[in-house]
Amino acid sequence: MVRSILSVQDLTKTFGGLVAVNGMNFDVGEHEVLGLIGPNGSGKTTMMNLISGALKPTSGSISLQGTRISDLPAQEINRKGVARTFQLVRLLPSLNVIENVIAGAVFGHRKRWGAEAENYAKEMLERVGLQVAAHAPVSTLTYIDQKRLELARVLASDPKILLLDEWLAGLNPTELETGIALIRDLRGEGRTIILVEHVMDAIRSLCDRCVVMNSGTKIAEGTPAEVLADREVIRAYLGDDDA
Ligand SMILES: Nc1ncnc2c1ncn2[C@@H]1O[C@H](COP(=O)(O)OP(=O)(O)OP(=O)(O)O)[C@@H](O)[C@H]1O
Ligand SMILES: [Mg+2]
Repeated sequence: MVRSILSVQDLTKTFGGLVAVNGMNFDVGEHEVLGLIGPNGSGKTTMMNLISGALKPTSGSISLQGTRISDLPAQEINRKGVARTFQLVRLLPSLNVIENVIAGAVFGHRKRWGAEAENYAKEMLERVGLQVAAHAPVSTLTYIDQKRLELARVLASDPKILLLDEWLAGLNPTELETGIALIRDLRGEGRTIILVEHVMDAIRSLCDRCVVMNSGTKIAEGTPAEVLADREVIRAYLGDDDA
């Protein structure tokens, strides 16, 4: 791994008696695409919520470029360059397509205003292939176009780290190819990405490295080929009864 940009240290999150994230440790290198994978309920979204600041850890810490961010409010973490998409798409329904992207540019890590924000928003819409729909109401977008828009909005904040939580989920096979190609382009631009994904083809073709979670703990870490051949990982995915 090159220089670490994000560092997760001894991170734990409990909900009542449930330990959703249990002593997690991992680093994300600059320009790295890190896959965060694991069976349903293993704690991936909770991990993303902790990194983005939507949830506060019970114990442990997260640092961005050596500075502890896990005590900061979500907005502050976003301003420092950590941007996310949601497992269920969240857009601003009263704004049209380009206005949604401008909102990302105005509130993001590298703030842009007025004409600069609008031009940048146009660029981001082109980036995700949604320029023709710039002035359409959000309600008229197909599902893949909503996903494109969410990505454009997040990119408009020019994040240092992009958190994608099952961004590819729910796409049909053709859309999936488009979606994977889009993320591959982002990877080609040298963006740092944490990818939570159940689509193994995407994990194999996009990730430099994977961290595998099961019941809140890290059970494997390595290249996609390494972790997907790991016995404990296979057992976790199949369930104990099948191992
Ligand atoms: N706000 C919450 N309150 C209580 N329990 C929660 C909360 N959020 C998550 N959990 C529990 O924490 C565990 C981990 O959930 P999480 O959503 O992080 O899993 P996941 O790996 O993202 O699963 P999936 O692949 O299904 O999206 C689950 O048992 C879940 O029910
Ligand atoms: Mg999840």
